[in-house]
Order: sequence, then structure tokens, then C-alpha cells
Amino acid sequence: MKFIAEQERVDGHTHIVLITTGSVASIKAPLIVSELLSYKKVKVQVVSSKASLSFFAKADIEKAGSRVWTDDDEWDGEYRIGDPILHIELRRWADIVLVAPCSANTLSKIAHGLCNNLVTSLLRALAPTTPTFIFPAMNTLMYEHPLTAEHIRTVREVIKYEVVGPIGKTLACGDVGLGAMTEWRDIVQIVVDKFGLAKAVV
Ligand SMILES: Cc1cc2nc3c(=O)[nH]c(=O)nc-3n(C[C@H](O)[C@H](O)[C@H](O)COP(=O)(O)O)c2cc1C
Repeated sequence: MKFIAEQERVDGHTHIVLITTGSVASIKAPLIVSELLSYKKVKVQVVSSKASLSFFAKADIEKAGSRVWTDDDEWDGEYRIGDPILHIELRRWADIVLVAPCSANTLSKIAHGLCNNLVTSLLRALAPTTPTFIFPAMNTLMYEHPLTAEHIRTVREVIKYEVVGPIGKTLACGDVGLGAMTEWRDIVQIVVDKFGLAKAVV
């Protein structure tokens, strides 16, 4: 299935790309998508790393009214000159990008400029004017690892993304402390406030 930004953008709508990576918090993706789509004039595309696909069913995202794009869609056969390139089309489409959850691995890749999957190629190709929010989610000790602070500093100060969270609570692994993703409703609220979204009438 080809995705061409020009054909997929709808006038007057807010186009949200939700990126999910390999943290347990990816289980919240269907909730985030369906809540975002409960607002008027909103479109959502989900871009997922391979690891994050273990935490939710693609079908649940589709049921909510969105689509999940993966490396298999980017590399689905032979490319010819002029063919649409998925990570470029998705970045052309996006009015805002949410990386929720952002794993320690993807955070590190972003900070170092790596772009070896659909998630990081999209981020690396993004216009600096596209608002981009990073919601880290990881085990407390991963979060407290000295490199994490360094990666967050780079992402904030050099790349100029907004980093929100993590928050403290009992994590899925049983550890208690900082590392959990910002509550999914608060993530949605950031978008609602930024674009002044109004609830659709049901
Ligand atoms: C069950 C399970 C839960 C995991 N949870 C997290 C997590 O919350 N945060 C994190 O940074 N990594 C977590 N990991 C490790 C990542 O999935 C792993 O580093 C992976 O390579 C991340 O790839 P990605 O960044 O491309 O999604 C978890 C792994 C497993 C098996």
C-alpha cells in the first residue's frame, strides 16, 4: 500500500504521527489513537519499531481508525526513481510527531543521528519546524544510566525536541521509580491544547 502525503492530507485537519518503540508502554497506543480520533478534524498515522509491535495488536489501531507503518512497508520491494519513499511522505504529512513511548534504544539513536529503521529515518528527515515530543519510558536503572541524561540533553538542546517525562510509579517490571511514560491522557492533552482541538459530537 502506497502512502502519498499530498493525497492523504485533508484541509483543515491536524495530522498526527504517533511513533511507538519497544517499551511496554506501547500497549497504550490503541488508547492514544482512539482518544485522539475522538476529536474533530484529526488524522493519525502510527509508525512502529519492530520491538513495539509485541505490545499491541495492529488490528486494534485499525479498529480505532488509523494505520500502523513498519520497516516492512518501507522495504516492500524494488524502488524505482520517482516512487514515493515512505519516511519522506510521512514527514511531509505530519503536523506533529509524538514518540510515545520512546525506548532507551531509540532515544540513543536519535541523539546520535542514527536512521536505520522507519522510525529513525522519519525523525532524521523531519523539518525542524515540525513540533516533536519525546516521551521516554524505560526501567528506572536504564533511566538513571548516565548516558540517558546525556541523550536527553542532546535531544533537547541540539535537536530542540520537547522531552516530557518520564514519571515515577511502579513499573511493569516491578521496580518502583522514575521511568514510566507520561500518562497517555496527558499525552493526548498536549496535542489537544496545542491545536485547540474540539471533541467530536457522538
Ligand atoms: C518485555 C520487554 C519490555 C521492554 N521494555 C522496555 C522499556 O520499557 N523501555 C526500554 O527502553 N526498553 C525496553 N525493552 C527493551 C527494548 O525493547 C529493546 O532495547 C529494543 O531493542 C528497542 O528497540 P526499538 O528502540 O527499535 O523499539 C523491553 C524489552 C522487553 C523484551
